[in-house]
Amino acid sequence: MDVAPSHNSMDHSLPQHVAIIMDGNGRWAAKRSLQRLKGHEQGAEAVREAVRGCGELGISYLTLFAFSSENWSRPVEEVNHLMGLIRYFFRKELASMNDAGVRINFIGDLSKLPEDIQGLAKEAKEKTKANSKLVLTIALSYGSHSEITHAVQRLAKKIQKGDISPEEINETLISQHLDTVELPDPDLLIRTSGEKRLSNFLLWQSAYAELVFLDVLWPDFKKSDLVQAVEEYGTRTRRFGAL
Ligand code: IPE
Ligand code: IPE
Ligand code: MG
Repeated sequence: MDVAPSHNSMDHSLPQHVAIIMDGNGRWAAKRSLQRLKGHEQGAEAVREAVRGCGELGISYLTLFAFSSENWSRPVEEVNHLMGLIRYFFRKELASMNDAGVRINFIGDLSKLPEDIQGLAKEAKEKTKANSKLVLTIALSYGSHSEITHAVQRLAKKIQKGDISPEEINETLISQHLDTVELPDPDLLIRTSGEKRLSNFLLWQSAYAELVFLDVLWPDFKKSDLVQAVEEYGTRTRRFGAL
């Protein structure tokens, strides 16, 4: 399959929304007898590659799992280093992503992040809000169980106040109370590193996503890996339960 530049939004062999579980930074470092932190640093480079690749392929939405609600249980030095990298990434990449027409968006419980990162996230969102080439959503302190739990709490409060009745709760209303309210569901979900699990990522939203598991470790991820996953996606027949 020829992936670029002939694809456009009407081409169903091209996913509109790609979500990636960026996994394998630690194993990449261990293979080189380096500290795990080095793997995360190289992983930040791969983020740039993925964003550029999606832009070049004409993919409209990219969602990246950068830090899960469960990753807080890692050693404090690793968490601090990851926060440092997130900080550095925004300071360094915001201008060029803005120039490239990327709109930056976040999902997850950002209130758990250090305050200055919350500020950087707000700034990134605000500065890029008029862009339309690619919507880049970064999942930070994100976990589906926590997201769904918060949605249920908000719906329960609306019932308690008398704003809605229990019968009015339907799938659309639930989707509208998730962090992803402004995003279409992912068409293609990629996980790197060879692990074959979702690790609490976009569980509701990925009900009909095509799953592609790549053996490449995230720091080694290149545009060619994205192309490979998109090609695999193009061979799948999506039935959504129908015939
Ligand atoms: C993914 O790489 C990055 C984050 C989860 C933040 P890992 O750190 O999980 O790397 P492995 O899975 O240990 O190789
Ligand atoms: C998932 O990877 C989270 C991110 C990529 C941010 P993990 O490495 O945390 O997942 P598990 O622990 O292997 O399931
Ligand atoms: Mg991992």
